[in-house]
Amino acid sequence: MRLSDDFISEVKYRNDLGELAASYMQLKRRGRNLVGLCPFHGEKTPSFNIYTENGSFYCFGCGTGGDVITFIMKIENLDYLEAVKFLAQRAGMSMPEDDYDDSMSRLRTRIYEANREAARFFYQKLGEREGAEGLAYLRGRGLADTTIRHFGLGFAPDSRFSLGDYLLSKGFTEAELIAANLVFKSRSGRGVVDRFYNRVMFPIIDVRGNVIAFGGRIMTDQKPKYLNTSDTIVFNKSYNLFSLNNAKNSKSRAFILCEGYMDVISLNQAGFTQAIATLGTALTMDQATLLKRYCDEVIVCYDADEAGQKATARAISILRSAGLVVRVLRIPDGKDPDEFIRRHGDKGHAAFKNLLESSGNDVEYRMYQLRSGFDMTTPQGRLGYLNEGVKLLSELDNPMERDIYASKLADETDVAKPSIMEQVNRLTRRKTSARRKENFKKIQRDLSARDDRVNPQHADNLRAVTAEENLIAFLINNPDKLGHIDGNLKPENFITEFNRKLYVYFYKRIKNGQEPMTSVSADFTADEVSKIYRIVNSYSSIGSTPQALDEYISIILAEGSKLTSRDIANASADDLDAYLKKLAEQKK
Ligand code: GTP
Ligand code: MN
Repeated sequence: MRLSDDFISEVKYRNDLGELAASYMQLKRRGRNLVGLCPFHGEKTPSFNIYTENGSFYCFGCGTGGDVITFIMKIENLDYLEAVKFLAQRAGMSMPEDDYDDSMSRLRTRIYEANREAARFFYQKLGEREGAEGLAYLRGRGLADTTIRHFGLGFAPDSRFSLGDYLLSKGFTEAELIAANLVFKSRSGRGVVDRFYNRVMFPIIDVRGNVIAFGGRIMTDQKPKYLNTSDTIVFNKSYNLFSLNNAKNSKSRAFILCEGYMDVISLNQAGFTQAIATLGTALTMDQATLLKRYCDEVIVCYDADEAGQKATARAISILRSAGLVVRVLRIPDGKDPDEFIRRHGDKGHAAFKNLLESSGNDVEYRMYQLRSGFDMTTPQGRLGYLNEGVKLLSELDNPMERDIYASKLADETDVAKPSIMEQVNRLTRRKTSARRKENFKKIQRDLSARDDRVNPQHADNLRAVTAEENLIAFLINNPDKLGHIDGNLKPENFITEFNRKLYVYFYKRIKNGQEPMTSVSADFTADEVSKIYRIVNSYSSIGSTPQALDEYISIILAEGSKLTSRDIANASADDLDAYLKKLAEQKK
């Protein structure tokens, strides 16, 4: 299905990319453009650019680019039609109704509906005889009925058919329920069986309020303790977080990151609605990037066991590289937050608040971890700690922070602060220049021909590709020059297939009197869209005079008539003669 160009341009016109992006991230003006930290990959120095003139963006760090529709697709995790619908709604426009029937979007909607219906079913069961055991379990873990309702906790009965039968009776198809990962095809091949049975159920809800998945806990010591929905087209466990919907509304900009669902629920019950948890996996960069949209600071509150401490160290570095301030909270006596709060009963809130306030930042935590590895009563021990401490400080980006912890290190080791700072600065300088080089190399690499997935012929045709791309950018910016280009260059003269495809695409649109770029985000894959916006936005830095245009044309023609060494080896004497004549003519 296709939306009209008119509709799409109206949607784009009414949704200013700069203004919209500013609600997801911090942007600074730089000349005519806006720049900021890219929301699509972790970075500390801004490579994300918004070109206000043509309403597009491009990130030089990760190579993602597009228009306002692409931006919403990526940041809200929507498909094309959903993103258009989102923007249309935001601008108070209604979608051309009967057009909106794309099958993938429809399946997503059905999965959301099936999940919501399943969550209602599980919750309902808690109040029935079948679910009495589940209710007793949750109450036994100290949860109030209001908390159970707030989180929509529930119970999957001890039968392999109860949810499936119920949802089929509600009009869902087997295919939809399988796609939602609520049921499996049964082994006999006839009918479906429930994925979750005899477990208390935790719905996982995204920031827009959709039920996207479930976690189910067994009520005994059997394994697996928790069973989660596998990834589906609406759920990716390394991209979502448990209870982010609540945390987002908590008014706090400092979130508490826990390991388990129960920790988050107990914290909520005790008044800490800014708690969140990963979904049974280690924290990912995607999750940290997602968090960065809703908070500025994360307090890591993992279990005190060795695995928990390892996970803490990993989480610190991921969160930091996403640009978040990190603190680490240690719970006494090796408890998890849920156990800690329960043990303090009515005083749970005050007790945890105390811990929160005394929680050190991640640097203090890491210094503490380091120090406990050395015998500080011996000079060797102190020196060892000093060396490691200096390394740690040199990794900090903020000079104030370095200064503060240098004082602490000086105190702890009895070494004068200036000499500590001197060592730190020396290491820092070395690191910055190394990092700068690394960044530069990465950008080069990303843009380089070798990694060009979209145009695999790039590497072998460097000169031609540059000319082709410049010509395409020129055409998009000067559609009135189509006649001139067409008179001198035919699509078959293009050397790389991808650029030929682009040229033909824009050629046809301009011939039809359409604005060239309007539907790019509908007509190309995400990688292709990024590439096209890179080409378009590098235009201001390339030559845009008529002479430059003729230069691009002649380079493309000349590169096309070049013979490769293999051609020469296989050519006859006559062919080579003809070839040389042709070259001589081009020179004139
Ligand atoms: P309770 O025992 O109910 O208090 O759980 P917990 O949150 O204290 O459990 P634990 O620290 O063992 O696990 C933390 C999180 O890891 C859980 O909330 C789950 O998301 C996940 N998890 C735990 N056990 C399993 C498992 O067996 N399979 C999977 N996939 N995830 C698990
Ligand atoms: Mn626990």
